[in-house]
Amino acid sequence: MNLIELKSLTRGTLTHLLDEASRYLDDDGRVHTPISERTRLDGKAVALLFFEPSTRTRVSFELAAKRLGAMTVALDEHRSSLKKGETMLDTIRNLEAMGCDAFVVRHARLDVPYVLAEHMETPLINAGNGSGEHPTQGLLDAMTLRRAIGDPGGAELEGKTVVILGDIVHSRVARSDVYALTALGARVLVTGPPMLLPEEGAEGWGPLTRVESKEEALASADAVIVLRIQRERMRDMVFHADEYIDRWRLDSETVASVMKPGAPILHPGPVIRGVELDGDVADGPRSLIMAQVRCGVAVRQAVLRHTMGL
Ligand code: CP
Repeated sequence: MNLIELKSLTRGTLTHLLDEASRYLDDDGRVHTPISERTRLDGKAVALLFFEPSTRTRVSFELAAKRLGAMTVALDEHRSSLKKGETMLDTIRNLEAMGCDAFVVRHARLDVPYVLAEHMETPLINAGNGSGEHPTQGLLDAMTLRRAIGDPGGAELEGKTVVILGDIVHSRVARSDVYALTALGARVLVTGPPMLLPEEGAEGWGPLTRVESKEEALASADAVIVLRIQRERMRDMVFHADEYIDRWRLDSETVASVMKPGAPILHPGPVIRGVELDGDVADGPRSLIMAQVRCGVAVRQAVLRHTMGL
């Protein structure tokens, strides 16, 4: 079984994955693997193929696999035979022949996980395909919000409003978040500079509402997810960083004066402090950024088991 996108997952599958993931956190929300789970993937090998930079996703997949007893192998693109002209599919077929039981792939191109999955016999997990989807980030954000403001196993996120602030249109995190959060019942508002917002009803996006005023959106938020500006995906777009920082950065004054008391703040990382989010907000009492990271290991444990059928 593959996990390429959240778009096609039902609420039932999402809640099942989140319930499974919750077994890998202790009562205080710390990463924890029960003894009975530590050999669940004994003898299995998980290949980590990252063709774009990553800290959280790559390391947490590696930890998730190892916490369940699997071994991991990471392909270094620059020291592999891809550099000699071998295709990615041939590389993967060779790794399959060596006994890799699952592949975690991040690539800048949208079509890569779909093309690979058509030709592979082993499970493939999409760790981010350009501005397409980042399904395990969507799951970990849903898990974090469900624990903070939701009703796990019941109404989930029904009646909750989640605001996504920043560069939405280039964001695979935003796409997966919209699919996951709306499937669990939340209303999603997006806010940011108009050129960085998708149109409502645009193809490739789940249900969302555009709000052009940051303050209006934040005032109705039960939680806000702040996103990084993705300069690497902007190509010819003219973008003025100073204007963005002045108008759209989330600072402590805005949080205190506009947002509901206690409404939490999330960010998938990496945080560029002082650009989309001030350091004192990232480190402040409303921040769930480290909770997201903890949920990331738990979600990836559940996803590895789910895709490998174990
Ligand atoms: N959130 C996220 O995908 O972070 P990395 O790019 O560090 O994996």
